[in-house]
Amino acid sequence: MSPSTTHHPLSTILVTGGAGYIGSHTVILLIEAGYDVVVFDNFCNSSRESIKRVEKIVGKPISVIEGDIRNRNDLRLAFNTYAVDTVIHFAGLKAVGESVEQPLRYYDNNVYGTVALCEVMQEAGCKSIIFSSSATVYGDPATTPITEDFPTSATNPYGRSKLFIEEILRDLYISDHDWKVVLLRYFNPVGAHPSGTIGEDPNGIPNNLMPFITQTAVGKLSCLSVFGDDYDTHDGTGVRDYIHVMDLAAGHVKALEKLPLFHEVMTINLGTGTGYSVLDMVKAFEKASGKEVPYCIAPRRAGDIAKCYADPSYAKKVLDWKASKDIEEMCEDSWRWQSNNPNGYTA
Ligand code: NAD
Ligand code: UD1
Repeated sequence: MSPSTTHHPLSTILVTGGAGYIGSHTVILLIEAGYDVVVFDNFCNSSRESIKRVEKIVGKPISVIEGDIRNRNDLRLAFNTYAVDTVIHFAGLKAVGESVEQPLRYYDNNVYGTVALCEVMQEAGCKSIIFSSSATVYGDPATTPITEDFPTSATNPYGRSKLFIEEILRDLYISDHDWKVVLLRYFNPVGAHPSGTIGEDPNGIPNNLMPFITQTAVGKLSCLSVFGDDYDTHDGTGVRDYIHVMDLAAGHVKALEKLPLFHEVMTINLGTGTGYSVLDMVKAFEKASGKEVPYCIAPRRAGDIAKCYADPSYAKKVLDWKASKDIEEMCEDSWRWQSNNPNGYTA
């Protein structure tokens, strides 16, 4: 039987934010695993072009509802039109700096939006949700690697919105044990689908390291500022757990498969377990792309921490999942996407 004809008892998956960076890559693996997928997105940080390209990769049309998670009628349309079993909930705003300037917008979109989504799910009798949380909920961890039982904290409204949503979903489970809730805490997603046709397409000047590196290499930006070289790390620059977006996407498919077996709220790190510094990333990228990345050392960025990487052993245990793609593949795939699409999805 080909993967696309595999029957799943959980068959229709509503993917909120499915046109975005991580969502679009996950949609591909879901379809390849035989799930029916409905994308629900308001395109506030994505374009229809990503869906068109995903359709090309999977070779079939994708059902899309243009809607806002804060709008119950938009959501009802989705649940009335499709027999949705499970929601994978990516939709949200994610820019840390912006969240400090516009906290209400972040709480409205992320927290209120999730409340509205869960209310309509409840109405529709759909009580399974996989939520995109973030390693940001660990704040400044006392040690590394980070296990799921580390204390949580937040230093900005974006991070706080993730913490609030985690708690809301836990309360929902306490009120009704029929809910299945998986909280996936992503470390630093990078890379792109190996086709080079979809990838990360940030608005304006990127905040995150990898898109900044790739846009410098392609000549759109002149120089990378390395934020601090006096951290307590092997070369003084910040260390993070970069994870290939296809590995991350595969983690969602595993979470979906295992969902029926879970009888408590599952909180799971999705990382590789290896930390790389900013300069490690620059070197690896230069090797993979054959391009030079000019950089200079700049002051530390406010709110940054020295080191953050996962202990991924719980994900291995409960999801039978571990990341398989190394830093070389992350850089090669990021570069293929960026060099083929210097302006992202905008022609
Ligand atoms: P993204 O911005 O590319 O995707 C988010 C999608 O959600 C976009 O397509 C956007 O249009 C949509 N969206 C936002 N608000 C919406 C609303 N109110 N109604 C409907 N659609 C809405 O971001 P991403 O990198 O793919 O991140 C996906 C999720 O993972 C987010 O929740 C993010 O906070 C979380 N996350 C991302 C990272 C990261 O570094 N990329 C790390 C940890 C967690
Ligand atoms: C950021 C977010 C965090 C989010 C995470 C994953 C902030 C403060 N935090 O964290 O909430 O969960 O992304 O998406 O934005 N760097 C440079 N120069 C640059 C950009 C980054 O040196 O131009 C360094 C940073 O100092 C850091 C590393 O690169 O050491 C990674 O930065 P980034 O990609 O922004 O991710 P995080 O800081 O982990």
